[in-house]
Amino acid sequence: MGYDAKIMRRARARFEDDKQRRAEMCAERRRTVYARIPRIEEIDTTLRATVSRIIASALRRGTDPRPPLAALEQENLSLRREKAELLVSNGFSADFLDEKPNCRVCNDSGYDGQYVCRCLQEYYSREQNAELSHMLDLGTQTFDTFSLDWYDAHDGDGNKPSSREAMQKVYRAAREYAETFGPDSGNLLFSGEPGLGKTFLSASIARVVSDEGFSVVYDTASHIFSQFEAYKFNRENEYEDDAQSDIHRIMNCDLLIIDDLGTEMTTSFVQSTLYQIVNTRLSGKKTIISTNLDPKEIGPRYSPQIASRIEGEYRILPFFGKDIRQLKRQRR
Ligand SMILES: Nc1ncnc2c1ncn2[C@@H]1O[C@H](COP(=O)(O)OP(=O)(O)O)[C@@H](O)[C@H]1O
Ligand SMILES: [Mg+2]
Ligand SMILES: [Zn+2]
Repeated sequence: MGYDAKIMRRARARFEDDKQRRAEMCAERRRTVYARIPRIEEIDTTLRATVSRIIASALRRGTDPRPPLAALEQENLSLRREKAELLVSNGFSADFLDEKPNCRVCNDSGYDGQYVCRCLQEYYSREQNAELSHMLDLGTQTFDTFSLDWYDAHDGDGNKPSSREAMQKVYRAAREYAETFGPDSGNLLFSGEPGLGKTFLSASIARVVSDEGFSVVYDTASHIFSQFEAYKFNRENEYEDDAQSDIHRIMNCDLLIIDDLGTEMTTSFVQSTLYQIVNTRLSGKKTIISTNLDPKEIGPRYSPQIASRIEGEYRILPFFGKDIRQLKRQRR
């Protein structure tokens, strides 16, 4: 998966902090118990000492440590039983001092073989959501707060569905896209006038996909183009690393959401950059583009190649209705 190195570093730092905190809590428990029940400290010392003594002597003699360890098992068993009984009779749970890993899949390493374990992914999602929240309202713009009431239910006729019916389809498609996001997902094009909920649904999708552990980048088209421009023109200077990592995350994240395509100045640099992004990401990475343009305008404005990529590889979701920003102002 296309994790962003900067976000992953932050996630790992939090992950290690929590692990450290758990270890300290465990040590604290042990101190408490040893102070109250000294016999338990004795038992623990014996248990540790015998096991390491047997392994050391087997290593010295070059023999298999397993038979003597098995013999010892019996004795240790009764020590462990005594320890558990002492704990319980003093009001602790029998496993109060057991060091259980927080995650049994990865034993708190954060990695399940070569893959990032689900437990570390959760830390990644949290850091990523903090990052996404700089630009999107992940807290209140969710599938559950998206309301169809803002879309007219009576502006349809025999040939054309009402805005509400049309938007219900868009909503369902967006929700299903988010909830089933994965390697087999396609790409989406949100097209429609300003104020119809394109950014709202983008935020809703970003949240769900991020919570699933995928890497998600959201940005406006004009900002993305200016990042590519900075990279192109600053290659030799000190900002190279930053610009390069911006480009890397735009190109490699699992889901890229490009908002407000069409509001930027169309230059030949913009045309070729958009083609580069769309085309490169078609090999396995998913993209959502939001635009005020009519899909028919994309060819003339950018290039026939981009238009044909979008036509072939994107599901086009047209948005309908009246500017909700204005409607909300009028109702106040
Ligand atoms: N379905 C909806 N339910 C409630 N509020 C909405 C809905 N769609 C949009 N809004 C609100 O209307 C405003 C414009 O929506 P936005 O998603 O920014 O539109 P767009 O990106 O299409 O221009 C925002 O304040 C948003 O919270
Ligand atoms: Mg918008
Ligand atoms: Zn794990």
